[in-house]
Amino acid sequence: MIEELLPPAVAYAEAFDDHSAVELLPAEEAVISRAVDKRRREFSTVRYCARQAMKSLGLPPSAVLPGERGAPIWPSGVVGSMTHCLGYRAAALAFSRDIVTVGIDAEPDEPLPDGVLDAIALPSERSVHGRLLFSAKESVYKAWFPLARVFLDFSEAELNFDDGTFSARILVPGPVSGFSGRWLIRDGFVITSIVVPVA
Ligand SMILES: CC(C)(COP(=O)(O)OP(=O)(O)OC[C@H]1O[C@@H](n2cnc3c(N)ncnc32)[C@H](O)[C@@H]1OP(=O)(O)O)[C@@H](O)C(=O)NCCC(=O)NCCS
Repeated sequence: MIEELLPPAVAYAEAFDDHSAVELLPAEEAVISRAVDKRRREFSTVRYCARQAMKSLGLPPSAVLPGERGAPIWPSGVVGSMTHCLGYRAAALAFSRDIVTVGIDAEPDEPLPDGVLDAIALPSERSVHGRLLFSAKESVYKAWFPLARVFLDFSEAELNFDDGTFSARILVPGPVSGFSGRWLIRDGFVITSIVVPVA
């Protein structure tokens, strides 16, 4: 499903359930050893997806550890992003010689909990499908953070949606002034992506 939102330079893998046979590498095991079962399953399956994507890029399997503010640490020369929600996990990876940054996000296609839209939407964004807006802002943050290394608040990007695409204007100074993204709503999921190719 997510391949529809990604250019050919981006390798990906996705999963709709968790297999108990998925194995973590020792360094990953060390960071997740005390987690509850739900967290352990999403952490493991999405890393299985990441290793599938590494394989597609011709890379050997390597551990994907959480780094600064939770951002995944990729092998040298690789950029990427991961997402998990109930019933869906995905990883998207590319070589940094081709792609500057990637952000992907998946959410269940359900109404946002009460109060969340007010917390995340700028006045101009209030009429957007709430989950789509939320997912797109998460993708913005995941693409932004590896470049900027600072937090970006929901109020610091203004999004505009079109048919299957969106644009994000970054409202604070930083390494980029905006992003272009793509979105898909299908089979109960809202999926968004941002991929910035090397100019
Ligand atoms: C970090 C965050 C983006 C994760 O999104 P989410 O929808 O809750 O969860 P997802 O399952 O889709 O994504 C989780 C993955 O995001 C990645 N991630 C976490 N922190 C990250 C960061 N700072 N930068 C890039 N990727 C990050 C990790 O790979 C994580 O998976 P892992 O913990 O198994 O390694 C979100 O929790 C958050 O903190 N948002 C606040 C900032 C924000 O969204 N601002 C909007 C700007 S417009």
